[in-house]
Amino acid sequence: MSAVACTVALWTSSALAQDGARLASQLCAACHGVHGDSKSPMFPKLNAQSTDYLVAQLKGFRQHMRGESDARSYMWAIASQLDDATVASLADYYSRQTPTSGAAGDAALMAEGRKIFEQGLPDKGVPACASCHGAQGHGNGQFPRLAGQHADYILRQIEVFQNGTRANAPVMSAVAHTLGAADAKAVATFLQSQ
Ligand code: HEC
Ligand code: HEC
Repeated sequence: MSAVACTVALWTSSALAQDGARLASQLCAACHGVHGDSKSPMFPKLNAQSTDYLVAQLKGFRQHMRGESDARSYMWAIASQLDDATVASLADYYSRQTPTSGAAGDAALMAEGRKIFEQGLPDKGVPACASCHGAQGHGNGQFPRLAGQHADYILRQIEVFQNGTRANAPVMSAVAHTLGAADAKAVATFLQSQ
């Protein structure tokens, strides 16, 4: 971890600190993949993510607003080294990268996930995810893109919204509390393949 923080410190002290594309390829790509197309569910994909959401998350990590353990271990130190101009440049870079979709899962599970995403589960008080995350899950403004994201990352986020360690977004925490484990699995499986 300290090696990573040290690399960032070196970078941000250089004149190229605001060059998001270069910082992305030299540092962020080690975890988030080339052009943000992460290959491991440990690390969220960043390609084609909403600019405003990326800015909010990077500033949020800097302010320790996301308290889940993976954010603490990986992103707090990195974000602490990024100034506002660098954050803006990184967000601009990632938002322009081509989106990619992940592997499809069990057909019945995906059909159930699509239903939850598009219509919600009125009986259980689950709102349609599409009403905030966009009809295709492409995100917009403060609402993150979910289409193509690793299912296991999505499930982990639903879990940390539920257990309160990712407590910066009361609206999404409320939504997460309505989701049972099977519902979460279905919608995450569907989203990964989009
Ligand atoms: C050592 C690995 C590592 C490096 C290097 C790294 N990250 Fe991360 N990043 C993570 C992990 C792990 C998470 C997920 C945290 C969680 O699950 O809460 C994350 C989460 C994020 C998120 C939140 C995404 C979302 O969908 O909410 C953003 C934005 C982000 N990183 C940007 C960056 C940028 C920009 C860089 C380079 C300056 C970078 N990261 C470098 C490991 C890393
Ligand atoms: C009322 C609006 C709203 C609805 C409905 C909603 N969300 Fe969200 N969601 C948000 C907001 C806002 C965020 C960003 C939170 C933040 O800024 O950290 C978010 C974040 C997320 C994240 C974290 C993404 C990341 O990259 O870390 C996941 C996963 C998620 N939502 C899944 C869902 C699912 C699944 C549904 C449907 C069951 C849903 N959301 C419905 C508003 C909503």
